[in-house]
Amino acid sequence: MARVFSGMQPTGNLHLGNYLGALKRFIPLQEEAESFFCVVDLHALTVPRDPEDLRKKTVELAALYVAAGLDPEKATLFAQSHNPHHAEAGWLLQCVTRMGELSRMTQFKDKSQGSDSVTAGLFTYPALMAGDILLYQADEVPVGEDQKQHLELARDLAERFNRQYGETFTIPEPRIGETGARIMGLDNPEKKMSKSAASEANFIGLLEDEKSIVKKFKRAVTDSENDIRYDPEKKPGVSNLLSIMSVITGKPVQTLTEEYQGKGYGHLKVDTAEVVIQELKPIQERFRELTQTGEIEEVLAKGAEKARAASEKTMARMKEVMGL
Ligand code: ADP
Ligand code: NA
Repeated sequence: MARVFSGMQPTGNLHLGNYLGALKRFIPLQEEAESFFCVVDLHALTVPRDPEDLRKKTVELAALYVAAGLDPEKATLFAQSHNPHHAEAGWLLQCVTRMGELSRMTQFKDKSQGSDSVTAGLFTYPALMAGDILLYQADEVPVGEDQKQHLELARDLAERFNRQYGETFTIPEPRIGETGARIMGLDNPEKKMSKSAASEANFIGLLEDEKSIVKKFKRAVTDSENDIRYDPEKKPGVSNLLSIMSVITGKPVQTLTEEYQGKGYGHLKVDTAEVVIQELKPIQERFRELTQTGEIEEVLAKGAEKARAASEKTMARMKEVMGL
């Protein structure tokens, strides 16, 4: 059986991009693979966090995984820091990672903006992420498009380690969706939807209420034509709406384009909002129930044990071949 690993950071508001590019795609995988889904709280520390808030967000993100349909009996759901192998493997992999490789990461360049006062953790984070994946001998990693470069680094590190120290790691393959792998900001469809966006109008939060969702879609930036076509280069706003609609309804973009032939943008916006609301409603209800019981803390405790048992062998092998 194939092994799958993926993670999400417990920071800010989880948004529709995280959901359509990653979380939603995790759910069917639990049926076909041995899967590990992680709340990557160590990654969240790369920028300053309020400790209480981080702890709370970690449990909330785990609740969202479950609310979205993840079954903790089928998949292993855990918090990264609860399995100490992650921090340990992260360090060992930093010692086979080159400064030049990390300097080329576009996400670091974007997030640091050339500033010297960002943390060293923000810089070395891709090595920690490589460890997350390699510890479980993952074959596949479902992620959004923005993680492609980090995945390539994880593969390079695995290959280098295997060459230098002998066969240790499975080389992981990224699994990036055809549609929805890069959901764009509603206020600026030239850039991806992001938690760290300056404006609330950029993203749809997974816990956002109906009224606000409708309002944001109605104001979504499109273009001055009135022709519903899928063309991400020339018509990023309209294409983004079509992508969102397509991933949720399962209808190909081509079919949707035909359905909306001759209709106005207003129509497409209102319908997209409605589809999103119906998709999120049961998740929001389930999330509210789950966060009232304390069962998620239990799920995480069990998940940490399963995760640790699964990564034990790789961890021991890494240390042995490296001389520890
Ligand atoms: P963020 O990038 O929002 O800070 P994470 O780094 O925790 O969030 O990413 C969680 C997952 O969501 C990753 O697989 C990432 O590729 C995916 N993702 C993030 N933003 C988008 C987006 N706008 N469209 C599609 N997928 C996305
Ligand atoms: Na990301």
